[in-house]
Amino acid sequence: MPGRLFYGIKRLLADESNERIAVFGKPMRLVALITPILEKMRRRLQGTLRSESLSLEDIDHGCLGHPVEFEGGGTRRDALALARVSEAYRHAGIVRQSFCPEPIAAAIGYLTEIGADRPRRILTVDFGGGTLDLCIVRCEESGAEVESVHGLGLGGNLIDQTVVRKLILPMLGKGERWRRRVDGRDVDTPFPFMKYEQLILNWQVSYLLNQNEYTTPVIERKGMGDEGARKFERLYQLITQNLSFELFQAVKKAKERLSVDPIVRIDLPEIDIDVRLERAEFEAMISGALETFDQAVQKVLDDAGLGPSDVNVVLRTGGSALIPAFTEILERRFPAKVVQYDPFTGVASGLAVADYHGIGNPPQRLF
Ligand SMILES: Nc1ncnc2c1ncn2[C@@H]1O[C@H](COP(=O)(O)OP(=O)(O)OP(=O)(O)O)[C@@H](O)[C@H]1O
Ligand SMILES: [Mg+2]
Repeated sequence: MPGRLFYGIKRLLADESNERIAVFGKPMRLVALITPILEKMRRRLQGTLRSESLSLEDIDHGCLGHPVEFEGGGTRRDALALARVSEAYRHAGIVRQSFCPEPIAAAIGYLTEIGADRPRRILTVDFGGGTLDLCIVRCEESGAEVESVHGLGLGGNLIDQTVVRKLILPMLGKGERWRRRVDGRDVDTPFPFMKYEQLILNWQVSYLLNQNEYTTPVIERKGMGDEGARKFERLYQLITQNLSFELFQAVKKAKERLSVDPIVRIDLPEIDIDVRLERAEFEAMISGALETFDQAVQKVLDDAGLGPSDVNVVLRTGGSALIPAFTEILERRFPAKVVQYDPFTGVASGLAVADYHGIGNPPQRLF
């Protein structure tokens, strides 16, 4: 059936050139795509409220969470992303707004949950699909204060891409040579896989590969009948059946299972792929991300002029924080101080509390 999948719109928010995106050839504003989702959430919320006296009109305020830095952000572009989010919420009826960086929201949620017995200093590590966000909060008798925040574009999406690049692309012909006759001469060159790579790695645009310019060399190469030909048959099936999204979903699921199991299988019969991945192999593949993660932790400490011993509790939240190798980095730096906080709802709880207490814009002092 013809369809148009919307997925990860947040990733486009900080990009000026994406004011509108094409939907069946019709340009639509990003803001206009987000608004109906928010409207629906607001109506659902009303449906779950126990109080009979609250009407839809009463649900007109909220604290809006955002990454410290949007993917591909930077100060000016972050302002654009926030303006777009704000406009979408306004159209959806949430007109009284405050804003709060997501790692700070997680800290607020946690502090509310634990009640009176507060640690002196918390480091929050929110590691999600698109971004890694960190903050340090100092707690006092009377309140709490944000001492540093740091964020960067590292997350599960990038990890999925790394696995596809290192594990799957060689099975699709990356690194193979291409012998053929051109103008009566034998020519032997590397197959121009570079032309395909970025389009495979970004499944949103992979459909562009299904054009003669790309398929003709693949058809020729898979016709060679050698060892490598099988890989190009896979690439051909991936392109013509438009299976990049399925490939990424399979890799993402396998990665998630690896957080629990020591070994997983990625099985995609449509393109003749059935491969095993061990956790140690996976960890070697993502060594760059592990290094970047470690440096980000160092940076948020440095920015606050603190060392590991100054931190009493390390809160890890977000889906990617479930990957054992990242937890191990935290455990090594902060032995016996790492606590897991609701990976998928911690930030949202904190935002609700921030809204209730009127914390925000920007939250320096909490409570
Ligand atoms: N068990 C798991 N092991 C490893 N990764 C996981 C696991 N569960 C979820 N993930 C990954 O976590 C990411 C989603 O996490 P989360 O829901 O915290 O992100 P998000 O809040 O949507 O993104 P962001 O905060 O970056 O905007 C995805 O990349 C997903 O694959
Ligand atoms: Mg998140």
